[in-house]
Amino acid sequence: MSPSPSQIFIILLTVLFHFHHSSSFSLSVENPEQNFILSPNHTFTAGFYPVGENAYSFAIWFTQKHKHLDDNNNNNATIVWMANRDQPVNGKRSTLSLLKTGNLVLTDAGQSVVWSTDTDSSKPLQLVLHETGNLVLQELNTNGSINSTIWQSFDFPTDTLLPGQTLTRFTKLVSSRSETNFSSGFYKLFFDNDNILRILYEGPRVSSVFWPDPWLTSNGAAGSGSRSTYNSSRIASLDSFGRFSSSDNFVFNTSDYGALLQRRLTLDHDGNVRIYSRKDEKQSWFVSGQFKQQPCFVHGICGPNSTCSNDPMNGRKCSCLPGYVWIDDQDYYQGCRPNFQLSCSNKTHESRFLALPHVDFYGYDYAFYVNKTYKECEDLCSHLCGCAGFQYTFTAEYGGYYFCYPKIQLLNGHRSQSFLGSFYLKLPKSSDFVDDMKIQQNGMGRVCSTNGVVKLEREYIKEKENGSLKFMLWFAGGLGGVELLGFFLVWFFLFRSSKNSDEENNGYILAAAGFRKFSYSELKQATKGFSQEIGRGAGGSVYRAVLSDNRVAAIKRLHEANQGESESEFFAEVSIIGRLNHMNLIGMWGYCAEGKHRLLVYEYMEKGTLADNLSSNELDWGKRYNIAMGTAKGLAYLHEECLEWILHCDIKPQNILIDSDYQPKVADFGLSKLLNRDDLDNSNFSRIRGTRGYMAPEWVFNLQITSKVDVYSYGVVVLEMITGKSPTTGIQIKEELCHERLVTWVREKRRKGLEVGCWVEQIVDPKLGSNYDVMKMETLANVALDCVADDKDVRPTMSQVVERLLSHDNNY
Ligand SMILES: *[C@@H]1O[C@H](CO)[C@@H](O)[C@H](O)[C@H]1NC(C)=O
Ligand SMILES: *[C@@H]1O[C@H](CO)[C@@H](O)[C@H](O)[C@H]1NC(C)=O
Ligand SMILES: *[C@@H]1O[C@H](CO)[C@@H](O)[C@H](O)[C@H]1NC(C)=O
Ligand SMILES: *[C@@H]1O[C@H](CO)[C@@H](O)[C@H](O)[C@H]1NC(C)=O
Ligand SMILES: *[C@@H]1O[C@H](CO)[C@@H](O)[C@H](O)[C@H]1NC(C)=O
Ligand SMILES: *[C@@H]1O[C@H](CO)[C@@H](O)[C@H](O)[C@H]1NC(C)=O
Ligand SMILES: *[C@@H]1O[C@H](CO)[C@@H](O)[C@H](O)[C@H]1NC(C)=O
Ligand SMILES: *[C@@H]1O[C@H](CO)[C@@H](O)[C@H](O)[C@H]1NC(C)=O
Ligand SMILES: *[C@@H]1O[C@H](CO)[C@@H](O)[C@H](O)[C@H]1NC(C)=O
Ligand SMILES: *[C@@H]1O[C@H](CO)[C@@H](O)[C@H](O)[C@H]1NC(C)=O
Repeated sequence: MSPSPSQIFIILLTVLFHFHHSSSFSLSVENPEQNFILSPNHTFTAGFYPVGENAYSFAIWFTQKHKHLDDNNNNNATIVWMANRDQPVNGKRSTLSLLKTGNLVLTDAGQSVVWSTDTDSSKPLQLVLHETGNLVLQELNTNGSINSTIWQSFDFPTDTLLPGQTLTRFTKLVSSRSETNFSSGFYKLFFDNDNILRILYEGPRVSSVFWPDPWLTSNGAAGSGSRSTYNSSRIASLDSFGRFSSSDNFVFNTSDYGALLQRRLTLDHDGNVRIYSRKDEKQSWFVSGQFKQQPCFVHGICGPNSTCSNDPMNGRKCSCLPGYVWIDDQDYYQGCRPNFQLSCSNKTHESRFLALPHVDFYGYDYAFYVNKTYKECEDLCSHLCGCAGFQYTFTAEYGGYYFCYPKIQLLNGHRSQSFLGSFYLKLPKSSDFVDDMKIQQNGMGRVCSTNGVVKLEREYIKEKENGSLKFMLWFAGGLGGVELLGFFLVWFFLFRSSKNSDEENNGYILAAAGFRKFSYSELKQATKGFSQEIGRGAGGSVYRAVLSDNRVAAIKRLHEANQGESESEFFAEVSIIGRLNHMNLIGMWGYCAEGKHRLLVYEYMEKGTLADNLSSNELDWGKRYNIAMGTAKGLAYLHEECLEWILHCDIKPQNILIDSDYQPKVADFGLSKLLNRDDLDNSNFSRIRGTRGYMAPEWVFNLQITSKVDVYSYGVVVLEMITGKSPTTGIQIKEELCHERLVTWVREKRRKGLEVGCWVEQIVDPKLGSNYDVMKMETLANVALDCVADDKDVRPTMSQVVERLLSHDNNY
């Protein structure tokens, strides 16, 4: 989208400074269409961002070329930095100005200075936004070359670290208050005095560290991973390929590690550090890793006197304890207060205890007693004035012990089926909270968003002014106290979009810029007369081709078109596929529809199919896991995020291609749609589509076909990757339906193995040896088994699969 010279207007302004002018350049909060700075390739924008009603912060965000404005005319840009997050400025007469003294100041409504860089310089200065997202104030030599950087936004992060930006001993990330309130929240990511990178919850009343897990020792001993207290350089950074590493030896690879993507690491308002990635602005952000696996183990997340529970379907949920009510039901960080009064006299009969199974609170034990009876523990709490309840648990270890923990504060509560003890809450005897448990289970709690990820509604609307504006500002200031003439130059690029209006009216932009129509003769030449067949699949054969621009492509030649279909109908179908754009979906570069010829042009994958790679034993455990994850992401995108709902209907290892980094790309999607019509017309085709062994029971039993058929096939593919056994050849078990063999075999192993505790080891592909992560393998196997449930409603959706894999991906 580079502007042609005729579309560029260069306005050169030279301004004479009067003696009393104190500022050389400024950006105003008014006219946001003009007052912003773009990075060279337009990835980032710096300007005033609305953070509330008539409240603005000077911020840097990922540029949104296709804005989707909401009712309040706001858009949800991804903010990466803010100058004045805690002190927004007025929507009138607020400016960011570079003073002659060299100080960059943000002035609220023309009055008070709310933020400044505190720099001073007598040299000419230049403020530029780099392509990395770093806003830099540079000193220039008189010949215009850069002398030095005197200030940069990378040194003052807010809640986000961009690739190339370093977290140091002088900086920390501070979360936002909520998804919509950008002011400083309760969580900090910082280097502690022992050189360890930690996440701290700093609430209104208490503060505590919860990552890394506080019970792990930090001096490099076993348990803490490999954190080291000995390296005092205290630096951490994220690279563009998705690795975060810190000087305390903490290294974190994202699930899409290796791909060059837009990335950011954000300490989210819910206290978790997440690494997000996306290919470009047209995609929504994807969580490719998070530091804390269990969202309920983030301290302070539900506030005091409440419990947090997490279920994979609905996400995290905060609930007040029975007898307690929300202090502010819009802000659950504040927690709950008792809705009763418990007098502090020493009379047992005034209190009673309500058992809350599977509930635990972290910390704030009054004391800790071993082998007290339940009655003794209860008496202790009822006589202890500040006691709010007690934990009473039995542990079978070391011959069996009872533990009694009376609690004086109820913080960091969580409810989880895996916690086997119970909590006994102290309530007044006269209280009428008999039904409280019922109320709780009816869902009185607050449902919070799962991940803090907002799914972008992707609706491309026409850019209002077709405008894009670029500033580069120079300032020649006073030298040695003598006021000189100042000047500044504004390069003012205005360029018109050259997009043709038809395309815009279609409401979308073809994802692959190169998507085009090829002629048959061109493709015939590129494939050397269809001489190199590399595969044969649904609807046609695939040939290797070298296009005229030397790109290697895979060309699928579909079986001859049925008479009724016109070229434009074909185009309509193909363009839907062509506009899908995801790193785990094979890219389509174009098509050919001429006479009876129908061809599709795809990107070529050197490493071939998953089936090839499995049979040639190329894939270690890490690669297999990545492939399972990537395939799930691709399918989730296909099912849920793309503009039209597309089922694949034929997921199998032959349709999953592997790129040079061993990232999977799902191929042949959308073909079912293209071929569908043929089937209806052609009575020779049965209704059944897909491949034996991978097909969901719905096909066989003639039930409604939904996206869950792909989930089923995905589950079979994952089982195949885990076990190394093909569902089409089967295992020595008598079963009627071929495809049930592998599935039932694994299911049986789990059923029997759960009693003895190690079933995973029995199913894993012997070629993997013991080089795999047992916990992750078990998660993967459990997810796959859920995917192959006979009842489609029991199967998870593909995005739930991704979430489950991600949440078990990095268990720190
Ligand atoms: C900007 O984009 C061009 C073309 O895509 C690329 O060659 C160049 O390296 C990019 N510049 C930066 C600073 O990323
Ligand atoms: C954001 O949160 C802060 C702190 O709780 C509060 O003072 C401020 O009013 C909130 N801002 C908005 C726009 O809600
Ligand atoms: C912006 O985010 C808020 C809060 O997550 C959401 O309610 C709103 O719908 C989003 N608006 C747009 C235009 O996506
Ligand atoms: C500009 O001046 C600086 C020192 O004042 C010198 O180091 C640099 O080489 C000069 N650059 C050019 C392009 O002349
Ligand atoms: C920066 O400016 C100082 C003083 O004018 C000069 O001595 C120095 O060489 C300059 N440095 C560079 C890298 O241009
Ligand atoms: C300390 O950490 C830094 C950054 O990770 C690394 O470059 C350096 O080699 C480490 N020092 C030692 C002594 O390990
Ligand atoms: C991250 O990836 C690199 C290169 O693939 C590997 O050497 C390293 O062990 C990985 N680290 C972790 C923690 O998985
Ligand atoms: C939580 O409950 C206790 C009583 O159990 C009460 O003393 C405390 O003030 C409550 N916390 C808040 C934040 O209201
Ligand atoms: C409360 O009563 C118990 C027994 O009735 C007694 O042992 C205990 O000392 C009393 N505590 C206080 C604080 O009076
Ligand atoms: C606690 O009780 C168990 C069973 O009653 C007994 O085996 C164990 O020795 C006791 N431990 C202590 C420390 O009293």
